[in-house]
Amino acid sequence: MARPSLIDVDLDAIRHNLAAIRDLVAPARVCVVVKADGYGHGAAEVAAVAQETGDTWLAVALAAEGAELRAAGITAPILLLSEPTAAELAVAADAELTPTLYSVEGIDTAAGLRPGWAVHLKVDTGMHRVGARPDDAVELARRLLDAGLVLGGTFTHLAVADVPERPENDLQLGRFTEVLEALAAAGVDPGLRHAANSAAALHLPHARYDLVRVGIAAYGVAPAADVASPVALRSSLRLRSRVSFVNEVAAGEGVSYGWHHRLDEAATLAVVPVGYADGVPRNLGLTGGEVLIGGIRRPMRGVVTMDQLMVDITGDEGVVVGDEVVLLGPQGDDEITPVEWAQRVGTIPYEVLVGFGARVRRTYPG
Ligand SMILES: Cc1ncc(COP(=O)(O)O)c(C=O)c1O
Repeated sequence: MARPSLIDVDLDAIRHNLAAIRDLVAPARVCVVVKADGYGHGAAEVAAVAQETGDTWLAVALAAEGAELRAAGITAPILLLSEPTAAELAVAADAELTPTLYSVEGIDTAAGLRPGWAVHLKVDTGMHRVGARPDDAVELARRLLDAGLVLGGTFTHLAVADVPERPENDLQLGRFTEVLEALAAAGVDPGLRHAANSAAALHLPHARYDLVRVGIAAYGVAPAADVASPVALRSSLRLRSRVSFVNEVAAGEGVSYGWHHRLDEAATLAVVPVGYADGVPRNLGLTGGEVLIGGIRRPMRGVVTMDQLMVDITGDEGVVVGDEVVLLGPQGDDEITPVEWAQRVGTIPYEVLVGFGARVRRTYPG
């Protein structure tokens, strides 16, 4: 029998989010970031929705991710967000992906593989992860054109867009503008200009340029923790399971590995067959994590184990083996969000979403 622990992906919610974001950022176009299996939602399914609902770009981290989308029949342009290795560039050329480049070696390899290839040039204006130095941008652009490549786009990535009022956003955008001006002065067309992730797309209109690269907001999570989103976003992922066992435990006993949780009073515990191997953080059971059963919040008890976790259902004889348990997402009138989990365990919702393992089957109801 199929495992009862599942993720329901609400593709309608993603459709809704993309439509709202498209309306907001127009005339800029939208690039939907579907790396890491579409932030855990299923890259091919999300890409198909993005493609069917509008003029879209897609972005991934790895050439293999892009090739998988092509194998699934996705025809929209697919941007690789960082410069691929030589081996990955060969995969990208075969799969007709759009590589990002910022090194002489990358440019020469790409030009050898596919004359006339349209590529994007990434400039590091302050993230200090990858990208060309702003001062090198014109020279690299010239080299790329001389090698027979096409400059399809020029972009950068913001480090603190999730706090829109921070001055570093304008510092980075100022450096990006200088690069664009230098390219113009050298007579080089930058192609599509882009800088915005979800937070900048929603909160910094001047960062939208020609294209916004939207990941987390497409999946319904507001990207700036302390600022309300200007568009209503709908969460798109529900992690659910079923009670597998019910346990009466005496006062004074401990629960789960380490007995970190001690019962002051006798308790009834329900076991839920989903654990940290599936992406439920081990510490969630010690930091106030809750689940929904029958629309009511029930506290986790003790550390989450690899495949199972325990929740306290004391006083509710109505809960029986087989009852639906929602760990993330809506049930009844309540909802548990990735933001709530992230706050409890000291991380960000991105890490929650990409943490769900392959053992948790994705379903696409509706
Ligand atoms: C270069 C780049 N652009 C855009 C994104 C999308 O970011 P977000 O999910 O915050 O929209 C990412 C994600 O990490 C990224 O690395």
